[in-house]
Amino acid sequence: MKTLAEMAVEVLTTADGREKTALSHAHAATWRAARAEGRVIEIGHATPPLRPARPERPELLPPRDVPRRRPGTKQGRIALLHALAHIELNAVDLHWDIIARFTHVPMPPGFYDDWVKSADEESKHFNLLCDCLESMGSHYGALPAHAFMWQAAEDTAADLMGRLAVVPMVLEARGLDVTPGMIEIFQKAGEDDAVAALRTIYAEEVGHVAYGVKWFNWLCGRDGLDPKDVFHSLVRKYFRGALKPPFNEEKRAEAGLPPDFYWPLAEEVADAPGTAAFR
Ligand SMILES: [Fe+2]
Ligand SMILES: [Fe+2]
Repeated sequence: MKTLAEMAVEVLTTADGREKTALSHAHAATWRAARAEGRVIEIGHATPPLRPARPERPELLPPRDVPRRRPGTKQGRIALLHALAHIELNAVDLHWDIIARFTHVPMPPGFYDDWVKSADEESKHFNLLCDCLESMGSHYGALPAHAFMWQAAEDTAADLMGRLAVVPMVLEARGLDVTPGMIEIFQKAGEDDAVAALRTIYAEEVGHVAYGVKWFNWLCGRDGLDPKDVFHSLVRKYFRGALKPPFNEEKRAEAGLPPDFYWPLAEEVADAPGTAAFR
């Protein structure tokens, strides 16, 4: 029987997107089945790669070289879905990476339940977007993609609280801010499959942000730290650039992320030449 950490490394070292997500679904099902029987699969220890395996295509380019998307055209909407599929594939790896990378920190089984569920959902998101791309005559890999998506993972590879602060509580929260506008673009274009995919993603991403908040608060409570202060110092340390308003205050609240966590970071660096890594 494989340990959960070994399963995570298997996903991380599988390059092809459809294969990676199939393995991700299979391992998530194995974990869930054991939990339903009242068992917990051993977490174990493994050595995750610094960077996950990726397919030969898409070509990865620096953000400024990725062609701009104009959502008023079908090609522009394909480019938008392609960029999102790339984010989802990174998210699959990010959730398995948090499982494998921090096994030296003793965490309750619920921590693993949450990230296995998130990884399972990201795998579904990637496949939904690939299906949309294929039905529009394209596919994942047809266009270049953002090279720096994994930067946040590398920057926080030695800091679980930093990882939680930057990945679910900044980057995935940013997803909540921008998804309603994307849903509107596809609604206007009458592309119903993309609208349905984005609605599923939007609903499930709230949970991923909430898991980040939950375990960030848990670690702060364990160490007697003030979560807001720690969040501010970790985001300043690891996140390159400003938090970009407008924020989706309602969905952020639903995920347990209060305004005094994110607004002070947006205001103090509002004029810095920052980049929003998630776009
Ligand atoms: Fe997702
Ligand atoms: Fe997510």
